[in-house]
Amino acid sequence: MIIVSCSKGAHLGRKIAKKSGAGYTAIKTGRFPDGEIYLRFLKDVKGKIVVLVQSFYGDIDGLIVETLFAAATARDLGAKKVLLAAPYFPYFRQDKSFHDGECVSLHVIGHLFDKYFDKIIVVDPHLHRENTLQHVFKTESSRLTANPLIAMYIQKHFRTPVLIGPDWESYKWARKVAEMINAESSILEKKRYSSHNVKVRLRRRIEMENKEAIIVDDIISTGHTILETIKNIKKLNPKKIICICVHGIFTENALEKIRKAGASVISTNTIPSAVSEIDVSGLIANSL
Ligand code: R5P
Repeated sequence: MIIVSCSKGAHLGRKIAKKSGAGYTAIKTGRFPDGEIYLRFLKDVKGKIVVLVQSFYGDIDGLIVETLFAAATARDLGAKKVLLAAPYFPYFRQDKSFHDGECVSLHVIGHLFDKYFDKIIVVDPHLHRENTLQHVFKTESSRLTANPLIAMYIQKHFRTPVLIGPDWESYKWARKVAEMINAESSILEKKRYSSHNVKVRLRRRIEMENKEAIIVDDIISTGHTILETIKNIKKLNPKKIICICVHGIFTENALEKIRKAGASVISTNTIPSAVSEIDVSGLIANSL
């Protein structure tokens, strides 16, 4: 087996190789003068199980093309199998036509990746309207969760945590993690009007004085969901507010905005950032 980092996968690829005892290489990528993608394997992958590692952030669409090119090239070079470890998989939030005429991007992407991979490994996919990864990919897939790692982090760093989920969908993280560490939890109610307009409200009063309010969600993107949640939680006078997410996209200065609102932020390294304190490489290595 050989772990092959794509252009945004090196922060995890190296560690996954070390922890799994597999070989390691990174593909060479670049751009032709007209913007087209250049890609080259630097090690022989013939007869090997190739695990591509890619984290989809930044130029997501360019990275999709790069990843498919890498898979096709590995196959051309004689790889025995081609797997993808994509801890954050993009387009899962566009999982239905919310308005007439909209593309259900998740299904298009799913079918596209099916053709190139023998197996796809994802950490905490944003599965809401689709329940399982098998509804997204026809090829073999594996759904991992960072919940035990988040639970361990909270146990190590906080003494009186109360876990908060910003919306019903977040029970999969907030409530599940709370159950793992025997902590209280509460799920708030969210209404999303647009990408930048969300309203969150408390469904019931929670005892929070002298406790640490730990908001847990799968994704922080623009930060609006978290900012609205912080606004509500502040009224309850917690000792501290901490936001923990699996996938820290942090677009539009979300990190700064959340810190300004008086909360600290922690994420895993499915997408690397200054607050990626929880490492998912072992989780992925163990699944190979
Ligand atoms: C929504 O269902 C997700 O779980 C997150 O709450 C959402 O994607 C966060 O987005 P934003 O940070 O842009 O509010």
